[in-house]
Amino acid sequence: MVAVDRPPWHLYFCKTGKMLTRNSNKHDDSLTPMYAARELSSPISRYSLPEESMPADVAAKIILDELNLDGNPALNLASFVTTWMEPEADQLIADTLDKNFVDADEYPQTVEIHDRCVNIIARMFNAPKHSAYTGCATVGSSEAIHLAGLAMKWRWKASRQAADLPSTNPNIVMGHNVQVCWEKFARYFDVEPRYVPLTKDRFVIGVEEAMSMVDENTIGVVGILGSTYTGEYEPIAQLATALDKLQSDTGLDIPLHVDAASGGFVAPFLQPNLQWDFRLPRVCSINTSGHKYGLVYPGIGWVIWRDESYLPQDLVFHVNYLGGDHPTFQLNFSRGASQIIAQYFNLLRLGRKGYTSIMQALHNTASWLAENIDSLGHFSIINAGNDLPVVCFKLKNSRSYSEFDISDILRERGWIVPAYTMAPNAEDIAVLRIVVREGLSLDLAQLLVEDLRHTIAHLEEGGRPGLIARKRETSKKPGDKRARTKTHGVC
Ligand SMILES: Cc1ncc(COP(=O)(O)O)c(C=O)c1O
Repeated sequence: MVAVDRPPWHLYFCKTGKMLTRNSNKHDDSLTPMYAARELSSPISRYSLPEESMPADVAAKIILDELNLDGNPALNLASFVTTWMEPEADQLIADTLDKNFVDADEYPQTVEIHDRCVNIIARMFNAPKHSAYTGCATVGSSEAIHLAGLAMKWRWKASRQAADLPSTNPNIVMGHNVQVCWEKFARYFDVEPRYVPLTKDRFVIGVEEAMSMVDENTIGVVGILGSTYTGEYEPIAQLATALDKLQSDTGLDIPLHVDAASGGFVAPFLQPNLQWDFRLPRVCSINTSGHKYGLVYPGIGWVIWRDESYLPQDLVFHVNYLGGDHPTFQLNFSRGASQIIAQYFNLLRLGRKGYTSIMQALHNTASWLAENIDSLGHFSIINAGNDLPVVCFKLKNSRSYSEFDISDILRERGWIVPAYTMAPNAEDIAVLRIVVREGLSLDLAQLLVEDLRHTIAHLEEGGRPGLIARKRETSKKPGDKRARTKTHGVC
């Protein structure tokens, strides 16, 4: 599971003694900050619980010193996730960090705020006025997707069992460009993933191709409002129409889930007339990430069902030991309430007008970037920020350098602009992607284009590729998947 040739600070699953023994040859097992002599009498173990305590300010300083090695969030153009909120939101989050959302009886007003958010977002997604729509907060879109997937699986199972038919081989149909959380859902919950392949000039789901994969064991079809790879919207309305036709031709009633992780807080403001949400009767559920264009720090997502009949009740647990009766549908139990409160802050503070003007500004910056990157003459633009405010581009012709070299050189300057290859069937196409978020002002965008111009000039003159690219080339073994940068690591 873990790459042993990486230094230990890259390990997510740094648990086994074996690994630490192996790495401890290369790296000292202790931390000894320069100022330690003033406060500490002995080095601190890196991997075992220190025997002694230390002053809080020293512990904080040691950690902050190390974190200086992280990238600068403001220059992180790889991530969709919020890196800046207003000082009032920061304060509100700090003031509410001590609240566990699951303690509903103790914090009834927090539950009320959660319920307001669910209502506001359901109405933003045009939930039918008189339907019993329902939903909940999650840690992000991944958890929301797992919950929505489980609901589709349970409904399918119930309808198969009611008809006395086997319910053992469920499948789900989606584009090969889905974010990794869908692959996780399929594997963790034993659902066969049926991936619609991309082509060299179609980087989103194909409607006809999707329909050809649907059968009586399909729990649902997924449409993405804002592909992680390119920022393009998938043809949700066309998927809905095709599923309606399938039902009238064959009787199969297959629900459509919309993964609006990013687009859920973009389309309602930038493309209000686009039919992608509960206005389409085929759409049964929608997830969105509050921590992407919902403009809240990481740790908040939402899932909404058009009607409570789409959420089988045997998935909802009732607990009473915290006082009162509390329905819970979530993968974890305890979670912080502060991000839910911060989401409500944004909804209240910005309103439709505020979100619209922010999204419009992001769109303008993305269009400006696309135009100026295009005018450099070396790139084809795949998404000019017309759907999500994301600019996705690739080199026009094959050169002696690649998108990865460009990404690496920009990284040396501080910019984090990922390069990665597309999903299967288009995997020999590499792209660069800039996610325009609130922190990327037009001023910074101009500096970025200038740095891109210099990078290209440097590489065209035969200048050396980036440090990371050189390292990748020397460490690359045939078939080594780790050598490939995948967008999956980036959200
Ligand atoms: C389309 C899509 N779905 C799901 C996710 C997962 O979202 P989260 O990071 O909120 O769990 C992402 C993340 O980038 C995404 O782009």
